Amino acid sequence: MTQALKGVRILDFTHVQSGPTCTQLLAWFGADVIKVERPGVGDITRGQLMDVPNADALYFTMLNHNKRSITLDTKNKTGKEVLERLILTCDVLVENFGPGVLDRMGFTWERIHELNPTMVVASVKGFGPGPYEDCKVYENVAQCTGGSASTTGFRDGPPLVTGAQIGDSGTGLHLALGIVTALFQRTKTGVGQKVTCAMQDGVLNLARVKLRDQQRLAHGPLTEYSQYGEGVPFGDAVPRAGNDSGGGQPGRILKCKGADTDPNAYIYFITQAPVWEPICDIIGEPHWKTDPNYASPKARLPRLNEIFARIERWTMTMTKFEAMEILNKYDIPCGPILSMKELAEDQSLRATGTIVEVDHPKRGKYLSVGNPIKLSASPTEVVRSPLLGEHTDEILADVLKYSADEIAAIKQSGATEPPKKKAATG
Ligand code: COA
Repeated sequence: MTQALKGVRILDFTHVQSGPTCTQLLAWFGADVIKVERPGVGDITRGQLMDVPNADALYFTMLNHNKRSITLDTKNKTGKEVLERLILTCDVLVENFGPGVLDRMGFTWERIHELNPTMVVASVKGFGPGPYEDCKVYENVAQCTGGSASTTGFRDGPPLVTGAQIGDSGTGLHLALGIVTALFQRTKTGVGQKVTCAMQDGVLNLARVKLRDQQRLAHGPLTEYSQYGEGVPFGDAVPRAGNDSGGGQPGRILKCKGADTDPNAYIYFITQAPVWEPICDIIGEPHWKTDPNYASPKARLPRLNEIFARIERWTMTMTKFEAMEILNKYDIPCGPILSMKELAEDQSLRATGTIVEVDHPKRGKYLSVGNPIKLSASPTEVVRSPLLGEHTDEILADVLKYSADEIAAIKQSGATEPPKKKAATG
């Protein structure tokens, strides 16, 4: 079986998380991803949060599978010439440098388009055009500026960032879709285009339901928010809603057996209207099915705290898995709070390739998240991340077609290797 993006060549000029997430996905779909890294240094994540001495950190290995690595100093004259040849040879250039970096290197969009009019040039930046366009941005900055932090957490606490990397990996996902869409359009127009994703925009897109609620506020209180039932008035901006469900069906995180000692002995429980009757039977309140104070979703809204407290008295009598087994029989939506330890050990996730074990020459075996997007006719095999510059020679020779003499001259110029340290003299 072939792979969907086989034949597509990516000049991967990305670093840290947002860009690498995008190019890793493209590699998993079969693209030939050539990661360009600074000689001697490489992607900064190779050395961040290191757990095994002298081995690339998991931060790097888990974001750079299935890629090839070439080291190239793109500030060096010969390095720039090699980069030009890469631009002529590749279909897509992906970058997430700070604002203006690519231009300062001498590779503006106009220059790249002139060199290779078919090339798609894809960029992640912190912000789109506007007052903050020159700012450098990391994950939590994007969560804060994209509306996520102001709507996450509890009403009486500070704004919170989430553990899911919606600013970095979320924007990388958006960018990947932009790239394949531009490649599809190119099949009709024959020319490339610019694809830009701002992290603020990506987060705001994922926080879309909160902008929905912002507008609903103009027409009255948000009745599905717990604070409505608690009689707490709403301000002029969408408040933090704790673990309230973001949809029209009230939901909460409830304690299960063992919650006193296990921080993850909880279950998410949704009191979905169509299954209200089985919920009443299961928790031992059958009269709530007909009592006008509980029988309709509207009547329940001011009583959600009392209702969920009663349901929690039931969930606390069993483990989160036992509760899920009972609730699933009645199609009552629920989800145990799974720890990373539980996910790492989950055999069904291993079977689908969502969690994979990868072998690395310097760090040995480690776990990674595999391709979460499954294509029936384009299988993904996760291959370990490249060592720094591991493929420099083969890319210069096989992809860029330099002769042996030319390769020797490139190396001599210092374009692919860090300058040698001068021996100390005494
Ligand atoms: N050869 C020579 N120089 C190279 C190089 C190479 N192969 N690759 C990068 N560089 C240089 C750049 O030219 C730049 O130099 P300059 O500032 O003199 O022009 C320098 O490295 C720094 O690049 P920059 O991207 O600004 O890195 P940074 O570490 O200062 O900032 C970020 C990191 C992530 C904050 C920044 O890249 C950014 O805001 N990116 C966009 C948003 C984003 O993706 N953020 C999330 C990251 S997960």
